Amino acid sequence: MSSRKRVAILISGRGSNMEALIAAAAGDDYPAEIVGVIANTPKARGLESARMRGIPTRMVPQRDYPDRAAHDEAIGAVLDELGAEMVCLAGYMRLLTPGFVERWAGRMINIHPSLLPAFPGLDTHSRALAAGVRVHGATVHFVTETMDEGPIVAQAAVPVLATDTADALGARVLKAEHRLYAQALAMVARGEARVEAGRTVFAATSDWGAEDALYSPAPHAPAPAEALDLERLARFTP
Ligand code: GRF
Repeated sequence: MSSRKRVAILISGRGSNMEALIAAAAGDDYPAEIVGVIANTPKARGLESARMRGIPTRMVPQRDYPDRAAHDEAIGAVLDELGAEMVCLAGYMRLLTPGFVERWAGRMINIHPSLLPAFPGLDTHSRALAAGVRVHGATVHFVTETMDEGPIVAQAAVPVLATDTADALGARVLKAEHRLYAQALAMVARGEARVEAGRTVFAATSDWGAEDALYSPAPHAPAPAEALDLERLARFTP
């Protein structure tokens, strides 16, 4: 379908969010198609998994370029070659230059494993545990020059359990990320979420009812915490 938005994904690692987007885009009525996956390092295991799923892949190693600007220019050339109309960052561990960000302004989104603006940067799950928050989650946002900032498209919240380790919490958040990113990309691809004057404006109203809330713990949840139905508790904003 030619009306689908042509989306390229940039990765640096495992690529599980990339896989979630590829899987979502395989649906007939999904408003985006994945036209390519680009990695900046040979360590990006996700590139092989994209290839196995029949997606065009490109490796643009940053070490082959003298500086960030030259590397971003090479990435930009590949995006042109792929005919990309939108970019999804999915675990892309490299700061982008202002020129690149400007060129893709309003057309580039990122997923971050926290409820921004809390916990930008790395090690979000151990920091969330250290801070003692009872609700944690993930955010999809438009990319601006500042890392892990930019107008928010959608968020998913998960509870923090008393027994959580960073790994256990991270696994719960990652599961929510996969669903959230596919939903958020669909919203942007359909034009339901777009940037205006530095804020996200939404064309369609969210189905997050006014009375809905995520409680930690849920008001009627059975104790002990392990018995919580996490699937039911994970709530999504789109
Ligand atoms: C995810 O947690 C994402 O939110 C963050 O980096 C991680 C990438 O994981 N930006 P994967 O490569 O998508 O599995």
